Amino acid sequence: MILRCFILATLLLASGLLPALDSALYSAQGSSKYTAKGTAKRSAQDAAQAGDKQPGATGSPPLPLDTLPKTRAVGAIPLGLEKPPGLDVPLFAERVALGRRLFFDSVLSKDRSVSCASCHRPENGFASPDTLAIGISGRVGKRNSPTLLNRAFGTSFFWDGRAKTLEEQVLLPITTDNEFDFSVAGVLERLAGDESYFHAFRHAFEPSKNSEIPPVTAENLAAALAAFVRTLHHGDTPVDRFQAGTYSALSASARRGLWVFESRGGCWACHSGPNFSDEKFHNTGVGYGEPTRDLGRFDATKKPVDRHRFKTPTLRGLKHTAPYMHNGSQATLEDVVLFYDRGGARFDSGRSSLIRPLHLTDQDVDDLVAFLEALSRPGS
Ligand code: HEC
Ligand code: HEC
Repeated sequence: MILRCFILATLLLASGLLPALDSALYSAQGSSKYTAKGTAKRSAQDAAQAGDKQPGATGSPPLPLDTLPKTRAVGAIPLGLEKPPGLDVPLFAERVALGRRLFFDSVLSKDRSVSCASCHRPENGFASPDTLAIGISGRVGKRNSPTLLNRAFGTSFFWDGRAKTLEEQVLLPITTDNEFDFSVAGVLERLAGDESYFHAFRHAFEPSKNSEIPPVTAENLAAALAAFVRTLHHGDTPVDRFQAGTYSALSASARRGLWVFESRGGCWACHSGPNFSDEKFHNTGVGYGEPTRDLGRFDATKKPVDRHRFKTPTLRGLKHTAPYMHNGSQATLEDVVLFYDRGGARFDSGRSSLIRPLHLTDQDVDDLVAFLEALSRPGS
């Protein structure tokens, strides 16, 4: 699909057939808005929610609200994406509804101060504006909270891929001490004791009233949370519309950026396929020079070759998900592009041979940023 688009773009650019439409919305803009966005938006939201009293949440940031549309077509696949696995299960819609409720509920954390949405915020593309994740009692984790958009297409989970399935992944925050610092048994006891949750579990997993099987189990909790995460799709972006034949969907700058992405930039060697990720692990040089540099994939495999390798993230929704990289070290998309332009960390001998100096012009940088921005649609 990318190749088709590449050829089309080349032909059209070369023959000058495309009108020089410079959409104000998706043209390259300065970097400051990204840095400003996180903090400004956050404090505005915090102020708006300051009146919200959360049980046991003294001193913790307010819990993000569920701002998603009330009714969402849970099985609908937006333009540009293929149907991911895992949607055709019985009672899927009921499980998604339960998973959604749990996702925004601090009931999963020991002191009821943090929810999944505290780190995976809807208005930030289900990522976080914090450089590193902040969990219970303000404890700081070692990595940036990644976006959950399109994780339904994932083949392994976490920056180092240590979880093999979404179902395995979603229970881990409960026991991680700088996230929820609780136990699965403790969560199950709370949920089983809550009449409304008990019925919601029954409804989503064992609708027969006569069933003897207790519905609030670890397996069902994982299935509900994973079902919700599987519905967080991000497609139908200007790039998808362009690829589907609406050439005016991309500005001239973004179209030139697409060209750099696929040619001199070499980006699609790793950011490939409909989700712009090969789901593989690479060392791009991020984190080089840090005193306690994160070992990445090595943590999961213990193979020396995997040192400092991280999973290629999707490029969809980037407009909402700053800061970037496993350590949140790049504040803006322009910073990311300049990092690649330098050849990543050039003195890192373990870095992938696909990462090398690109010699981009200022115009190329602006164009590449415009293209990356066009992989997001408004909202999240
Ligand atoms: C304290 C912040 C925090 C909370 C709370 C949190 N997460 Fe995360 N989440 C992270 C971080 C950080 C990572 C990446 C960790 C790593 O790679 O080691 C992550 C990774 C993930 C991933 C894997 C994404 C990928 O790219 O593979 C999923 C899925 C996920 N979280 C879902 C959840 C769910 C569901 C909950 C609630 C049960 C939750 N998270 C709670 C911070 C958080
Ligand atoms: C060798 C494979 C590879 C190539 C080539 C590559 N990337 Fe990446 N990209 C990655 C990996 C791996 C990460 C995560 C690195 C980390 O956090 O340590 C990443 C991260 C990113 C991010 C941050 C996304 C986020 O959510 O944090 C952006 C944006 C990005 N790349 C854009 C590009 C662009 C633009 C190019 C071309 C100039 C490019 N990449 C080339 C593998 C690659």
